[in-house]
Amino acid sequence: MKRMTLLTLSVLAAGVVGAAQPKADVAKGKEIANNLCASCHNIDGNSGIASYPRLAAQLPNYIERQVHDIKDGKRAWGQAAAMRVSAGISTLTPEQIRDVSAYFASQAPKPGETNPKENPELGAKIYRGGIAEKKIPACMSCHGPNGAGMPGGGTAILAFPRLGGQHKGYIVEQMKAFQSGQRENSIMADIAKRMTEEEMNAVGNFIQGLH
Ligand code: HEC
Ligand code: HEC
Repeated sequence: MKRMTLLTLSVLAAGVVGAAQPKADVAKGKEIANNLCASCHNIDGNSGIASYPRLAAQLPNYIERQVHDIKDGKRAWGQAAAMRVSAGISTLTPEQIRDVSAYFASQAPKPGETNPKENPELGAKIYRGGIAEKKIPACMSCHGPNGAGMPGGGTAILAFPRLGGQHKGYIVEQMKAFQSGQRENSIMADIAKRMTEEEMNAVGNFIQGLH
């Protein structure tokens, strides 16, 4: 009897969650990606241009939040403000944002390359071990050993985004935005403020080839 009640409750709870969050439609998401996003991010999310971030295999709830932030004008540094209107993001519905996020999240990431001439040893050291004397933590501890990211799971943090294979130029730009406070995130601001430009470049170069 008790068991049945629990079962009924969990079915009910699943029903409620299901109603509030309908399953994303990846096929519809692909259509949106094709019409509005592919010219910069590429249809499979593996953009070949450094200033356009790679979205393939990024965590879906992270993509979703960023697109909402761009739509609402909260993410307006760099080229995001221009993207809001020119890419039609200002007109997307929450369902369309969920669909296009699920689509890019489902795409296979293509590995990039680390430039052997741009301090890859320092980059690897920072990514895997941090710099203890400057209290810079290992990036790996939150973004994963292969840079695949991690779901946030039950905390205020929505997700630790995927970094592996991301363009160096984009990584360095974001680190500078965290450092200046343009991009608000207390964890990353604290880390970026302890880093020199040389260290950002080195870790960005390492991340670009990480997979
Ligand atoms: C005109 C080129 C362009 C188009 C079209 C475009 N984007 Fe972007 N996108 C950018 C640029 C540039 C950035 C980096 C902005 C910055 O400087 O922070 C970006 C950033 C993003 C980010 C943040 C990525 C991260 O790792 O935080 C997401 C998510 C995103 N775009 C999704 C989309 C979606 C979804 C579409 C289609 C509806 C789209 N973009 C269309 C250029 C574009
Ligand atoms: C304690 C956990 C933690 C550590 C350690 C950490 N990060 Fe992050 N990082 C985050 C979180 C959380 C976000 C998402 C921020 C947001 O939602 O805007 C993030 C976002 C980022 C982004 C933006 C990604 C994008 O797609 O726009 C970059 C770049 C980044 N981190 C680089 C690094 C580097 C480099 C290191 C190591 C020097 C590092 N992080 C260490 C938690 C961490």
